[in-house]
Amino acid sequence: MIIDGKAIAQQLKDEVREQVETLTKQYGRKPCLDVIIVGENPASMSYVKSKIKATEYCGFDGELIQLPESTSQDELLRIIRSRNENEMVDGILVQLPLPKHIDEQSVIEAIAQEKDVDGFHPTNVAKLWLNQETIVPCTPMGIMALLAKSGTPLEGRHAVVVGRSNIVGKPIAKLLLDKNCTVTIAHSRTADLGAICREADILVVAVGKAKMIKGDMVKPGATVIDVGINRMEDGKIAGDVDFDSVAPVAGAITPVPGGVGPMTISMLMYNTLKCYNRRMSNLCANQ
Ligand code: GUN
Repeated sequence: MIIDGKAIAQQLKDEVREQVETLTKQYGRKPCLDVIIVGENPASMSYVKSKIKATEYCGFDGELIQLPESTSQDELLRIIRSRNENEMVDGILVQLPLPKHIDEQSVIEAIAQEKDVDGFHPTNVAKLWLNQETIVPCTPMGIMALLAKSGTPLEGRHAVVVGRSNIVGKPIAKLLLDKNCTVTIAHSRTADLGAICREADILVVAVGKAKMIKGDMVKPGATVIDVGINRMEDGKIAGDVDFDSVAPVAGAITPVPGGVGPMTISMLMYNTLKCYNRRMSNLCANQ
């Protein structure tokens, strides 16, 4: 089975759009997401454009703030703080990676935790690991929705996550653990990666290396989730999983493009709606 991330993401966006329509009438204004990009990394530019397009589809307000590569950290922090203080802004997203002269963690920590639609702020990360109500990072949440929609059983099964980033690897491991998977986190230094992957009932790959996972590294019938988006020399997009050799072995697999990518964007819409709803209902409660 090929898991159609594009279709599932579309359903989710339609649900968000419907809720936005109702809530906008109730609260008297639309949700607002500001997206900040520094520099002109082509992949980042393309993701950011897709995010803005989705905000328009969902009926959000928002601004795309495009800053030159030379922007200083202080300048970026100042822009974030002005958005923190702006009552009309519900969500702030700073596209990563940032240029080398900017400390990513300082930027993440500058975003008000209640406007942190990525769920990257340390307070939100801590809440996730403590099972407290929080904003969950978009890509892991998108992966969990794909697993649910594909009918993949999770309880008691072995999930192998390849990659240990703060954005995907670590949080998806936590979410799978919450569903009672037995979770292994593998990475670039893992010895005999093939043997570990072959034990996986659920294999999530987020390493950023094109076509790294081959068919002989996958257990027959496994559900394979490919988070990679790699641009090949011929201009085509490939995942971290070698689709042609893995698809015949896997029970279910996400394609690239059209798998995890669109889900990340829809979950960003969901998180923005959530931040808006929380802020507006708090405001009403305090009046
Ligand atoms: N770069 C790659 N993925 C993401 C993401 O989910 N959020 C942000 N802000 N930057 C990213």
